[in-house]
Parts: sequence; C-alpha cells; structure tokens
Amino acid sequence: MIDKALAALRDGKFILLYDFDDREGETDFAIRSDAVTPKDIVRMRKDGGGLICTAVHPVAAQKLGLPFASDALRAIAVAEREGDIPYDRKNHSSFSLWVNHRNTFTGITDRDRTLTVNAIAEQVKRAMNGGNVNFHETFRTPGHMALLRAADGLLDVRRGQTELSIAMAQMAGITPSITICEMLDDESGYALSKEDAKLYARKHKLEFIEGSEVLEAWDKAKKD
Ligand code: 5RP
Ligand code: ZN
Ligand code: CA
Repeated sequence: MIDKALAALRDGKFILLYDFDDREGETDFAIRSDAVTPKDIVRMRKDGGGLICTAVHPVAAQKLGLPFASDALRAIAVAEREGDIPYDRKNHSSFSLWVNHRNTFTGITDRDRTLTVNAIAEQVKRAMNGGNVNFHETFRTPGHMALLRAADGLLDVRRGQTELSIAMAQMAGITPSITICEMLDDESGYALSKEDAKLYARKHKLEFIEGSEVLEAWDKAKKD
C-alpha cells in the first residue's frame, strides 16, 4: 500500500491521506506541489471543500524565512496558546504565512493558486539543494495560499497531514512540498467519514493511505 501511494505521489497523482482515528480523523487530498494544475485546484475545492494548503519541509521553511504563524502572532498577543488544539494538545498548528505569487491578480483563481503553488515548490527545491532563494521577492503576504511548516523531526515530533505528507515526499524522493485539502461532507456538516473517503478512492482509482501505514514505513526507513 505505502509503495503504491509513494509511486502515485511521485507520478503527480492525488492520493487520499487519512491521519489517525485518535487525531482529527480526517482525509486530505494530497499532491506534489510541482505537479499541481488548475484542474487539481478545482478538484480540491469541489470534491474536497476544505482549506487548500501547501506544506513545506522544515529545512526549506527555515531557509525561506517561513515562521510558524503562532510564533509570528505572539508578537501582537493574538496567537493560539499551548493546549488550544482539541485533537493535539501537545503541539501548535502548522500554519505559517499566507502568500500570493507577485504575478497573480487576486490570488484566489484556480490559475492564480496554481502559479503560487508551483512557485513555492520551485523555491523549496532550491532551498533543499542549497541554491539561491528569493522567497519574499517572489511572493506577497498575506495572500490566498496557506503555507504549512512541517515540524522539525517530522513524524518523530508531530503527526498531522503536514508531517505525514512531507515525510512521504521525502521517502518518495521528490521535492518536499505537498499541497493538501481536507475532504468535507456536504450533508452532515462534518469531515467526510473514513468509509466515504475510501469509497471515493475506490470510485476514482486513487490510493487511500492511513497515518499508521506512513509511520510504519517512516520507522522502517530510519532503521534501514
Ligand atoms: C489545514 C489543516 C489541516 O488539518 C491539514 O491537514 C494540516 O494540518 P495538520 O498537519 O494539523 O493535520 O488544519 O487546513
Ligand atoms: Zn487541521
Ligand atoms: Ca489534518
């Protein structure tokens, strides 16, 4: 299962990434950021319906000057406090800045968000390869793409889709920036159930993978 999911990710296909029954219990669309097209943004907003976010590897985030929003907001005393998140009392959220590529118009259209996401992937690639980065010349903030900064140590420290997706990118050997969006349920007002997310995966021939399987592969990769 993990191998098929890593291959799909490598091929630029969507995978469906569930976290854990004892965490959010949510399924996110996940796709490598350098492969995102406007059609993919359409699919995430129509079939997912959650917040479209782009996760970034912590090493790249550091080099690009991307803070955790909670750290940046603490300066004006409106940040979340320790223990504020009901499904994960030990960690703060992974939210970083919200950005638009400087060549976007409003920033929200499918084309604009694609431009922003693809450019984030390019900056992450350069940052990971020791190249020159020019993040703040490339983007303006605030904008319409939510950036997520994965925790240092990834799954050893935090187990959200932010870290699950970036750990998968690392294991797949691709640029570690993944764009994700929660699947919501139009009828109930809650997140889409795991069963319904699995049905969607089957219907659309997508790989469905759980956090437990990613963790297992992560722990194994560390031993090898
Ligand atoms: C941003 C979120 C989502 O849950 C997303 O999956 C990333 O968060 P986490 O890493 O905490 O799961 O809150 O829409
Ligand atoms: Zn969340
Ligand atoms: Ca999540």
